[in-house]
Amino acid sequence: MRILSGIQPSGKLHLGNYFGMMKPSLELQEKGEAFLFIANYHALTSSTDPELLRENTLDVALDFLALGLDPVKTTFFRQSDIPRLLELTWLLSTVTPLGLLERCHSYKDKVAKGIAASHALFSYPVLMAADILAYQSNIVPVGRDQKQHLEVTRDLAIKFNNEYGDIFTLPEASIQENVAVVPGIDGQKMSKSYDNHILLFDGKKATKKRIMKIITDSKELEDSKDPDTCNIYQIYKLFAGEEKVAEMADNLRKGGYGYGHAKKQLFEDLWVYLEPFRDKREALVQDLDYVEDVLAAGAKRARAVADKTFDAAKAAVGL
Ligand code: ADP
Ligand code: TRP
Repeated sequence: MRILSGIQPSGKLHLGNYFGMMKPSLELQEKGEAFLFIANYHALTSSTDPELLRENTLDVALDFLALGLDPVKTTFFRQSDIPRLLELTWLLSTVTPLGLLERCHSYKDKVAKGIAASHALFSYPVLMAADILAYQSNIVPVGRDQKQHLEVTRDLAIKFNNEYGDIFTLPEASIQENVAVVPGIDGQKMSKSYDNHILLFDGKKATKKRIMKIITDSKELEDSKDPDTCNIYQIYKLFAGEEKVAEMADNLRKGGYGYGHAKKQLFEDLWVYLEPFRDKREALVQDLDYVEDVLAAGAKRARAVADKTFDAAKAAVGL
């Protein structure tokens, strides 16, 4: 079984990225042949700062390695190190109906947020389909917001296969429902574009400040509170052990336990939970040559797999 996912290097990573996509991907690396890449071609649809793109790309590499990516088990690489991907993107474009792209929510949302409606932004899902199909991926772990892109990928694979023969494996999205939408400090989906995120690797003070800003209802200390509608609890239960989660739920329901208490507990336990990852990341920053070597070796392995698909697709269309 081949498992593949990618993430755009478009800013510092947050708890939503971690619990929604990174952690499930890292868990799946134990279950099959895993591919994970940094989608830097995709990031160009929303970034025009070369230095920042380089910095963000390195940040994602450091974050994944710090969070437990094992480069022996997982083929880890930069998307741009597979330049023939753009060749496959073109082939897939020829079987892409415009209407399919026009229906994509992600495109419409990004334009509504003020990102320039470029051709690259519009055809983003075709490049993503190429990413997935190039490695004949079976399973693609993502957050729920990427579900439609997986449907587009399947549609394109089916169209291409019908037209030219059985070239591509049909992939399936793997969406963990319990973490499909991690809430931000305002209760909306956590996202860097809503500025409601809690970063994975931030300073102690900054992390605490962010957690203290989590929006709650206005119940008093002594009131009974509902864990299911409490943003603090919703974030806490992503990582705290079963007993601790049950204890917080209990405390909230009982009353006499304020939101301030819950925030303090969330901060303290989250800080401890992230500590080994922070330590690992600090060590990696001292050894950037190692990080570069991992990415170079990953790209080599990825190209060896993808080249077979590129050659087959090219021959199938008559090139
Ligand atoms: P952002 O919304 O901050 O820009 P991205 O769109 O770059 O994040 O998402 C990168 C990956 O993380 C995707 O697979 C996405 O589904 C996942 N993800 C992002 N935010 C969340 C969230 N709040 N809950 C669950 N998964 C998320
Ligand atoms: N579109 C994804 C996101 O914004 C990133 C991505 C690019 C991706 N190519 C992919 C994810 C292939 C999974 C598979 O998060």
